[in-house]
Amino acid sequence: MEFNRVQELALQHGTPVLFLSEGRARESYRNLSAALPGVDLYYAVKSNAQPELISMLDGEGSFFDVCSNGEIDVLKGLGISASRCIHTHPIKRDGDIRYALDYGLTIFVVDNEDELAKFIPYKDSAELLIRMSIQNPGCLVNLSQKFGVAPEKTYDLIKKAHGMGLRVKGISFHAGSQNENPLKYIEALEYCKDVCGKAALAGIDIEVIDIGGGFPISYLTQVLPMAAFCQPIVDYLSRYFTSYRIIAEPGRVLSGPAMTLAAKVIGRSYRNGAWWYYLDEGLYGSFSGKMFDHADYPMFLTRPGERQNSVLAGPTCDSIDVLYENISLPPLEIGDILVFESMGAYTVASSSNFNGFPKAKLVVVE
Ligand SMILES: Cc1ncc(COP(=O)(O)O)c(C=O)c1O
Repeated sequence: MEFNRVQELALQHGTPVLFLSEGRARESYRNLSAALPGVDLYYAVKSNAQPELISMLDGEGSFFDVCSNGEIDVLKGLGISASRCIHTHPIKRDGDIRYALDYGLTIFVVDNEDELAKFIPYKDSAELLIRMSIQNPGCLVNLSQKFGVAPEKTYDLIKKAHGMGLRVKGISFHAGSQNENPLKYIEALEYCKDVCGKAALAGIDIEVIDIGGGFPISYLTQVLPMAAFCQPIVDYLSRYFTSYRIIAEPGRVLSGPAMTLAAKVIGRSYRNGAWWYYLDEGLYGSFSGKMFDHADYPMFLTRPGERQNSVLAGPTCDSIDVLYENISLPPLEIGDILVFESMGAYTVASSSNFNGFPKAKLVVVE
């Protein structure tokens, strides 16, 4: 959003404030759909569960990926049909499985034998995606550290599930979040091809390949346009996977660009050779993504002047609540508005009210 417009709206609504741009979210959805033709997009609700964003994606025809009863409740509240949802948490309690089944959701992700056993009572209604791990230590968040069965053990787990009378619908993987290397998807698809071949020989019919999320967005550096990023994936799918239903679980790429944050300087102090500026938003709020998601956000300000060594800190009393140290800023005044872009993914989702500071308010803009 244009700085002056954000500043004007921030003064009107008060800070800290997150602006949700429906136009940007819609554009991101359409971009990714066009870049991945024929792939059904299940928006990963965890990246940002704001009902306004979910409703907008619903209107675009999106499907949804949920991981908890709370996320199911958000979709239920919006009247979204369970037939358009999958449950992708590899570890679930029996009650979680029943909660999802009661909603009407029938597709679940599993990555180990104990989890398979949990589905025996529900084998007539549940269908399983077996999650394969794809190591990607080079990306922002390596999601295969905690979940996924090793590629070389994936077929064994499928065979085991089949032997237990469970319905294996497909294979899923997550190539790592903010993954800037499209070849990681190809590496994963190579493994899938091998596993599907073995399963077919054993008479096990794999119908779905779930290529997960991970699609990157521009933060401080530009990433490839989505069409170029996805081209190798599309080429590979059209060569080897034409007879499968392909789905994806994008989170960040849809929610990230959709939000802009405006925060205000509420105090300042010269300490140990640097100007400290205290904002009304910090690590315990919308900047929680700096901590949990390891993300950094483009910052905009308009004040002119000679730049000095500065620190930007959040409002809470905790000394960990510091956003940037050793940055070079012009002299800021109390009341100045700072604007941060690409603030929609894993930000408000993990923010808290620590120290009694309310979460940033949300304002929907076109
Ligand atoms: C199972 C699963 N699917 C999808 C996503 C969304 O990933 P991204 O936001 O990188 O697209 C995540 C992120 O944690 C995930 O764990």
